[in-house]
Amino acid sequence: MTKVKIVYCSITGNDEEIADILEEKFQELGCDVDVSEMGQTDTSDFLDSDICVIATYTYEDGIVPEEALDFYEDLKEEDLSGKVYGTCGSGDHYYDDFCRAIYEFAKIFDQIGAVSGAKPVEVELSPEIDDINNLDKFAEELMAKTQS
Ligand SMILES: Cc1cc2nc3c(=O)[nH]c(=O)nc-3n(C[C@H](O)[C@H](O)[C@H](O)COP(=O)(O)O)c2cc1C
Repeated sequence: MTKVKIVYCSITGNDEEIADILEEKFQELGCDVDVSEMGQTDTSDFLDSDICVIATYTYEDGIVPEEALDFYEDLKEEDLSGKVYGTCGSGDHYYDDFCRAIYEFAKIFDQIGAVSGAKPVEVELSPEIDDINNLDKFAEELMAKTQS
């Protein structure tokens, strides 16, 4: 059974919602899914999974949100060779760097040997129907990548 680890970082709940949508979709696809909040998660938890997913918001106060910084730094030290990853998250087009944090996390996954299985999914604030469709497709692409 394909194991999926979803780590989310959320203040107002949008990224938690994104994580929930993905959890449901991966379960539908027959995966063993584990979801946890970034502050409660060790980056080594990804070692036990086939698919690694990060869902995070973006704040303009740094490269990734301040509360995600420890996880971001620790992630650089892991070796995730052979694993498939995807990043997604909520942002707001009002700000210049829309959804920047999901691309910053993607860069780290690339550096530590994980393989991108799907393009990052950007969500404007809370997920609407189109976003749910995009997230479902994202999960399907990540699954397909593990099987290729
Ligand atoms: C002070 C502040 C700064 C923000 N900076 C950015 C930003 O630089 N880029 C972006 O895309 N969104 C930015 N946002 C929007 C948040 O990423 C957005 O509200 C997101 O949905 C929050 O996710 P959450 O509900 O999971 O906490 C900012 C929001 C606030 C309040």
